[in-house]
Amino acid sequence: MSEKKQGCFIVFEGIDGAGKTTQIRLLEERLHQEGRRVYTTAEPTESVTGGLLRDALGGVSRRSACEMAALFVLDRTFHNVNPVNGIQKMLADGYDVISDRYYYSSMAYQGSETDFDWVRDMNLNCPEIRRPDLCIFLDLTPEESMARIDGSRATHEIYENRERLEAVRKQFFRAFEALGDKEQVCIVNAYRPIEQIHEEIAGLVLDHIKAKEENQ
Ligand code: TYD
Repeated sequence: MSEKKQGCFIVFEGIDGAGKTTQIRLLEERLHQEGRRVYTTAEPTESVTGGLLRDALGGVSRRSACEMAALFVLDRTFHNVNPVNGIQKMLADGYDVISDRYYYSSMAYQGSETDFDWVRDMNLNCPEIRRPDLCIFLDLTPEESMARIDGSRATHEIYENRERLEAVRKQFFRAFEALGDKEQVCIVNAYRPIEQIHEEIAGLVLDHIKAKEENQ
């Protein structure tokens, strides 16, 4: 019986303005060139729960931090197990799966608003939430991010936003520290020319895929 090779599960994380969308698109193209099949996805998902999350993120409804954390766990579980195009199904079918955000975002955003350990444990202890093979964290300082997003906002607005971005970035590092060496997290300097960042990411991912396939 011929065994189908499982794909690689890669997650992109970063603060706003880090360039995830661009880098995900470039990686997808590169993996296609290498003859691989790629499935790109994102959180919140298109599920009913994803809709509830978007309403809350957009200010249409109000939710507490614990409600948000729990809804993200529900959405993420669905993201993993849904039988049509869930992460598990796509990996088993041999696709490399690239997700724009995952549980590191819950630890960074919800973890800063409610009990960090609870958020971490709910995600890591859920048997239906898979651990990624690789997390790429696109790192840049809030100042660098703000310079990219918009250089022309009112001073106080920039300040408020800067504070928030700084807090979220700090929480991401807290999450990576809490995960220790159980997870493969690559911190990539995202304040460089797009092509240069892409080359570094492509190198990391292709090395990882090679190593994984040698072990399969
Ligand atoms: P989105 O519009 O996709 O933003 P971005 O392009 O920056 O990824 O919205 C995702 C938002 O959801 C973003 O502000 C971070 C937030 N989020 C959480 O707070 N917790 C989570 O677990 C996830 C996955 C996202």
